[in-house]
Amino acid sequence: MRPRLLFTAMAVACLGAGALLAQDAPRLRGPDPFTREQAAPPMQRPITNDIRVKRNYPDQPPVIPHAIEGYALDLNANKCMSCHARRFTEQSQAPMISVTHYQDREGNTLGGLAPRRYACLACHVPQTEARPLVDNRFVDMDVLTEPERHSGGRSNR
Ligand code: HEC
Ligand code: HEC
Repeated sequence: MRPRLLFTAMAVACLGAGALLAQDAPRLRGPDPFTREQAAPPMQRPITNDIRVKRNYPDQPPVIPHAIEGYALDLNANKCMSCHARRFTEQSQAPMISVTHYQDREGNTLGGLAPRRYACLACHVPQTEARPLVDNRFVDMDVLTEPERHSGGRSNR
């Protein structure tokens, strides 16, 4: 009897949690129920103003500030490297891929692009003018350490 009771209680709890989560999840499809057919929303316009974007933390892969439509990125060709590889940066004026892109996972520096850094778009993404689905509450480290810097040391908080 006991295990069955426990099981029922757990099932009810899970259903409840599931319902709550479903309510909070951002609705990609808008307010209509998923059973109703809808036209796909228009593609968002990419931001291509060529202005390099501040990173939110030092190790962040910088976002792409230019158009990448039609750039081949497959087994035979990597269009990104035709500007970002060390030897092409003078003519392209593109920032060079950093040294981490030449290192394998053991930390050895290789003569060329490390295979694990070949698929640039796995880490670097263009931006669009789309409105975020949920509020972003990210706080920049500079803001977090602000009181510290003003008191010239540790904050008293
Ligand atoms: C025709 C040359 C060219 C090609 C091809 C190119 N880029 Fe760029 N990229 C640039 C230049 C120049 C900049 C500097 C900002 C600007 O002018 O847009 C830049 C900036 C960037 C930045 C921002 C760097 C930073 O520090 O903020 C990233 C990330 C980037 N490119 C990734 C890519 C990826 C990924 C591809 C392939 C899908 C690619 N680029 C293809 C020329 C190029
Ligand atoms: C596995 C994730 C990953 C992949 C794949 C990757 N990058 Fe990066 N990239 C990063 C990170 C993280 C940084 C910032 C820290 C650093 O330099 O390692 C960065 C930095 C950069 C920068 C700025 C360098 C600088 O010194 O300011 C450029 C440009 C760039 N990447 C281009 C590329 C291109 C082009 C490719 C594809 C050939 C690529 N990345 C593939 C993660 C990646």
